Amino acid sequence: MFYFGADYYPEQWPEERWPEDARLMAEAGFNVARLAEFAWSKLEPADTLKPGDNQFDFTWLDRALDVLHARGIYAILGTPTASPPPWLMLKNPDLFRVRDDGRQVTFGNRREYCPNHPLYHQRSRQIVTAMAEHYASHPALIGWQIDNEFGDRCYCPVCQSKFQEWLKERYGSLNELNARWGTNFWSHVYTQWSEIPVPVTTGGSPNPGLALDFARFISDSYVAYQQIQVDILRTKCPGHIITHNFMSFGYEGLNYYDLARTLDLVSWDNYPIGFWLPDQPDACGPALGHDTVRGLKQKNFWVMEQQAGPSGWETISPSPRPGQLRLWAYQAIAHGADAVVFFRWRTARHGTEQYWHGILDHDARPGRRYAEIKRMGAEIKRMGVLIEGTEVRAKVAILHSYDSRFGFQIQPNSPDFRYYTHFKAIYRALFQHQIPVDVIAPTADLSPYKLVFAPAMYVLTAEIVENLERFIRAGGTLVVTPRTGVKDDANAVVNMPLPGLLADLCGVTVDDYDAMPVNAAQEIEFIIPELSAVWPPQARTWCDILTPQSAEVVALYTRDYYAGRPAITRNFYGQGQAIYVGTFGDTPLYLTLLGWLLLDLGIQGTFSTPEGVEVAERWHGDQRILFVLNHTAHPQVVTLPRQYTNLLDEQLISGYVTVAPHDVLIMKEAE
Ligand code: GLA
Ligand code: ZN
Repeated sequence: MFYFGADYYPEQWPEERWPEDARLMAEAGFNVARLAEFAWSKLEPADTLKPGDNQFDFTWLDRALDVLHARGIYAILGTPTASPPPWLMLKNPDLFRVRDDGRQVTFGNRREYCPNHPLYHQRSRQIVTAMAEHYASHPALIGWQIDNEFGDRCYCPVCQSKFQEWLKERYGSLNELNARWGTNFWSHVYTQWSEIPVPVTTGGSPNPGLALDFARFISDSYVAYQQIQVDILRTKCPGHIITHNFMSFGYEGLNYYDLARTLDLVSWDNYPIGFWLPDQPDACGPALGHDTVRGLKQKNFWVMEQQAGPSGWETISPSPRPGQLRLWAYQAIAHGADAVVFFRWRTARHGTEQYWHGILDHDARPGRRYAEIKRMGAEIKRMGVLIEGTEVRAKVAILHSYDSRFGFQIQPNSPDFRYYTHFKAIYRALFQHQIPVDVIAPTADLSPYKLVFAPAMYVLTAEIVENLERFIRAGGTLVVTPRTGVKDDANAVVNMPLPGLLADLCGVTVDDYDAMPVNAAQEIEFIIPELSAVWPPQARTWCDILTPQSAEVVALYTRDYYAGRPAITRNFYGQGQAIYVGTFGDTPLYLTLLGWLLLDLGIQGTFSTPEGVEVAERWHGDQRILFVLNHTAHPQVVTLPRQYTNLLDEQLISGYVTVAPHDVLIMKEAE
């Protein structure tokens, strides 16, 4: 069943309005709503707990669920732990999280809590248990979202002593920890576990080993906190789905693979237009977000918050253009979403998010955004059945390493380097070639792939290297980029030539390197015949100066003291090969390399389209559904390679078809 709906906050509106909301939702084809994830102070209005007392108030939520259910709308309930009530926090001020500058947050926003505090765990257990017991057999309920967008490191005394325990568990002895962190540097040798600090910014630049372990520890803390809730819900509500709403690829505070592990499915919050995105909004950003969350469990996912209007808190983003809300929702589906839930139903009149627009405006009149989503709701009734059981298939993968991301947070290596940007430059090249991609963990099974990119695998373990070796030996092509193999898993620099544990597989050593000044660039000259005629792409940010051992040279630097020295190499190994790219460069570099490798490996994109028109596909057996998505504001003419059935109107189509601005074509190969 395909779920289509909205995030709904009945507690923010008069109850007389609820039936009208439910009617409009049903008319828009909605069959699901997410509720209650910030409703703690309405569900548990005061700390009145005496034995035998029932301090919870579920009556209003019961009535809201009944109103929705009467219209055929099912519910996902959020556990409300992301926004603790004032009575809990103000009475117990040590529950407040401490920021990295050592200051405690104060009340007034959300996510104020320390994820390790025993009292917070206890109060969370209480409310989650009460909700789970109350709703276990409610006919409207299909599942749970735990908390809301986990994140935010805490540096409080509770976390500090938990961190010390975590380290004891990891290293066994202080001798081992001192050795792995190299605490002889600057007189940091610890003689008691209790001496170990947390890396607050007032402590200056921390020991990299300590800082990496602290990032892992906080990630583990949220995973453990989530697990407390998972365990309760699994026991009390065995038939319900359990998920959490993850953030986009840009968020790197937690190890999302760990956070996803015991959930039934991953969901995420997709806002293509926003003020926080590090680059211009474009179709590649959400695509990367979808592929990233699909990779967390290597299965289809939900979008729990899908942009429904202009976004913003204090200021307001540009309005999504007519067609874009529907287009972005279909893009999600094309990348593997099995549910799209719009954030939010109606724009809030009160509170911080007054300008984060929902489907309805403040005054609740259905306008153009409602009409567009309603149109899609009608289509989804049919499309939902067709896409059921279909999935994305990829022959190319990019490895996504949270350990390396944490490592680069501590030491970006170059002021110009961001893991996010580098990763996205590679992803964008694949996106432009219309190549389906899986974004997966470095330890995932690589046997389904022909081509694997391993961007900046800074923190590298023997386990990952074995995985890569197996892949190449069996015929895979691996592409490695700079700053790979620099660190061991305690964030110490390795005692061997770079790329460290990967030097043998790559058949190359890094002799010398040059961190380039921001904005500096130099041309790379390809010397292999297949690429000798290409427009030379630029080396940027970083140049590894390479000495081939068994590798052959693919390209050379052209300037500076390393002009004429190898920049890119290729090493045949087993049945496969490893390409070492010695510079970060940007998308044109990867477009060039990809053009070469795709031809070399016989990998084909779906079919070519004008710029800004994406093609993506979902498969079932040997059948596929193709989505042609016009992300541009202009009509685009697409040349279809064969005859298809347009699934939206059942017409046969072939040859040249015009796709209207921000419109989609959904089709399957005609019989
Ligand atoms: C996130 C949160 C929502 C809401 C939106 C808009 O995705 O999960 O609760 O705050 O952002 O700001
Ligand atoms: Zn804490």
